Amino acid sequence: MAKLGVNVDHVATVRQARRTTEPDPVTAAALAELAGADSITVHLREDRRHIQDRDVELLRRTVKTRLNLEMAATDEMVGIALKTLPDCVTLVPERRAELTTEGGLNVIHHRQLLQRQIELLRQGGICVSLFVDPDLEQIKASHRIGADYVEIHTGGYCDAVNAELRRQELARLDTAIRAGRKLGLGVNAGHGLDYRNLRAVVALGGVEEFNIGHSIVARAVLVGMEQAVREMVALVRGG
Ligand code: PXP
Repeated sequence: MAKLGVNVDHVATVRQARRTTEPDPVTAAALAELAGADSITVHLREDRRHIQDRDVELLRRTVKTRLNLEMAATDEMVGIALKTLPDCVTLVPERRAELTTEGGLNVIHHRQLLQRQIELLRQGGICVSLFVDPDLEQIKASHRIGADYVEIHTGGYCDAVNAELRRQELARLDTAIRAGRKLGLGVNAGHGLDYRNLRAVVALGGVEEFNIGHSIVARAVLVGMEQAVREMVALVRGG
């Protein structure tokens, strides 16, 4: 059975909108675990736009399942990972101007840098996953340079604008998942998955863990809105 990793970055995005203390992604992570999440993911970005160093330190001490740290393959981030020791690191490409991670890593082009960072992380006892497009050459390169896992980018499938494109993208995902497993890699998947499009990818089989953030936080805001307003209405009315 596939596992669910919950990405709580967007909880921190709401907090950082006011540079205040709530909502706390550490509390959200604990609630996600109580609800059955198999792991917690945060992306510590170089510009610290949502998750802060303090969050990663606290999560390391409080997460009871597994902590997956998403990060760019920079010396600064590898240093933080070796100090905090998450269970797993997922290396992702990062550009400051992007709204979210836009594509997979170019493992072939950056193989020397990535291989060195993977070695350092693995020496620290951290398992390493590479976020890649559903592209066989990138998956083979990930295996060659010593990654434990690939996380296959599902954005192309999620963004497909019609049924035919969606079918093609799903077939690409299927081929990529099978290729990764055949090489002996663990295969995770994520990006853009939601309550409607997930089912077809689960049905492919072969994915160990799905990493999902935006759609869960978006739904949490809406399903929690009624209770939050009721509580404030009671206070306003002197209840
Ligand atoms: N996996 C990776 C590597 C990501 O960068 C992200 C976005 O931070 C996710 C999964 C989760 O994507 P989403 O927020 O669209 O569910």
